[in-house]
Amino acid sequence: MDYIKAIEIRRSVRTYNPDKSLSDKEISTIQEAIDSAWSPFGGDVAVKLHRFDLEGKQTPSTYGSVSGASWYMLVGFAEDRDSALSAGFKQAQVALKIFSMGLGTNWMTDTFRGGVFKQAAGFPDSTPLRVIMPVGYPAEKPRLMEKLTHKMLGSASRKPFDSMFFSGDFEHPVATGSPFYKPLEYMHSAPSAYNKQPWRALVKGNKIYFYQEPGQESLIGMGIGLAQFYFSLLQLGHTGNWGDTSDAPAHKGWEPITSFSISD
Ligand SMILES: Cc1cc2nc3c(=O)[nH]c(=O)nc-3n(C[C@H](O)[C@H](O)[C@H](O)COP(=O)(O)O)c2cc1C
Repeated sequence: MDYIKAIEIRRSVRTYNPDKSLSDKEISTIQEAIDSAWSPFGGDVAVKLHRFDLEGKQTPSTYGSVSGASWYMLVGFAEDRDSALSAGFKQAQVALKIFSMGLGTNWMTDTFRGGVFKQAAGFPDSTPLRVIMPVGYPAEKPRLMEKLTHKMLGSASRKPFDSMFFSGDFEHPVATGSPFYKPLEYMHSAPSAYNKQPWRALVKGNKIYFYQEPGQESLIGMGIGLAQFYFSLLQLGHTGNWGDTSDAPAHKGWEPITSFSISD
């Protein structure tokens, strides 16, 4: 799969075409992507692909943020840090697959009414439902509500790259020639709750340390950003290994989450 192309076309889709439903083939491709998604962080994640009847009693209810979608991925995960990171890392792979198929999706943690989704998910208490992701064909024109949400969240823009990613110490930017530069650009464009971009990174030689603003939504966002970093890095011809943060330099107010050493 061309991850980089998918990253470049990805955006949060909130208005779907209700007249163009997913084919059986598309549904099985998405299910395969869910089943084969991988994470280096372990933990416990549950995902269910479910169709709601838009005409019937089970019409999914969100706070005005989604229209026209009948298929949803329901995502549950355990309370611990690794599970939240893995939920982001794994579902980011699925989301990118969905965009590569010409479809759209979005991550929703706040703007859905739990009941109908919780019932459909039927997850055990150990992995409660925390995220819903509609899937479908994007409508040709977003609704006014989508345009307003996009504007209100400042979704079209990102914090300056050099205020998030550093090299050597927390004063100097990452050089454009660094093998980490492009993968960090792809992390920079990842989705995050309220577009908060809860990622910081420090390059030290062939190793990079990742930091997050404490919070569970940040951890999911961190997982998503790390997936966009990692899969673009592989596609650019590099390899490496995930590592711990025992030797991570301190960064005030930010928590070291993981590290990655590039091997070529
Ligand atoms: C963990 C997570 C939770 C999110 N929750 C919501 C949500 O509840 N409602 C919503 O409309 N968008 C939600 N979003 C989408 C973000 O607002 C969006 O990713 C961000 O504004 C950047 O816009 P973009 O995805 O179009 O690049 C969420 C995204 C993430 C990663």
